[in-house]
Amino acid sequence: MSLWKHHGKFERHSLLLVIGILVVVSIGGLVEIAPLFWLQSTIEKVEGVRPYTPLELAGRDIYIREGCYVCHSQMIRPLRDEVERYGHYSLAAESMYDHPFQWGSKRTGPDLARVGGKYSDGWHVDHLTNPRSVVPESVMPPYAFLKDKDLRQVDLGKKLIAMKRLGVPYSQEDIDKVLVDVEAQADPYSSDAVDLRKRYGAKVVNRDFDGDPSRVTEMDALIAYLQMLGAQVDFSTYHPDQTQNQR
Ligand code: HEC
Repeated sequence: MSLWKHHGKFERHSLLLVIGILVVVSIGGLVEIAPLFWLQSTIEKVEGVRPYTPLELAGRDIYIREGCYVCHSQMIRPLRDEVERYGHYSLAAESMYDHPFQWGSKRTGPDLARVGGKYSDGWHVDHLTNPRSVVPESVMPPYAFLKDKDLRQVDLGKKLIAMKRLGVPYSQEDIDKVLVDVEAQADPYSSDAVDLRKRYGAKVVNRDFDGDPSRVTEMDALIAYLQMLGAQVDFSTYHPDQTQNQR
């Protein structure tokens, strides 16, 4: 009975009620938020997830510069219709090296989280040059100029250093070899690609992404990035409870 009396006090004094609400809500908040400060990482590591190669990282910056995220998301939600259309739902680990992440919030075009390997490099060149040439009803703008722009490489080392400060595990060797790595990945005959794969993983492909072997263009970088999206984890062997520690 006395409990009811106290309750009456709260109901009659709005300030007391506000303080009461704050106390109750902050207990809930503390229980949820406080443990995060003591955890090393809230993201489970998944085999196959690796830092981006310098060429892919450069492509990612072009993706951001050109505002691709305005029309494309990179986040497949664990809902049946999305999984049937795009493939396995996105894992937290798959964007753990994304600073800033590219989940997006608008889908004028389809989600791109698993576009890697879906089309050939040539298809991407045609599509980015003139989307209507391969998808007649497309409303995507053309990005033909990327083919004519040499990739700016002088600041790539600094980009890796910046990412390293944000927690991406690039080694000093990765940073020192940044220019060699870019050339190696854009050249199908490069002998340096072996070393690139040794550091970034066996799945890294070295190809002439834009079909112009004479130079490394922004088109090379963007397609290298697109072809890697969502293709790092092997979902034929992936089990949510069998996460493994990899670099
Ligand atoms: C104005 C909105 C818009 C912008 C900006 C845009 N796209 Fe698109 N994109 C679309 C639409 C709509 C489609 C679907 C039709 C098509 O395939 O062209 C699409 C399709 C795609 C596809 C094929 C996806 C699939 O699974 O079939 C890729 C890859 C793609 N876009 C990449 C890009 C990249 C890279 C950029 C930035 C350089 C970009 N888009 C910018 C609207 C956009």
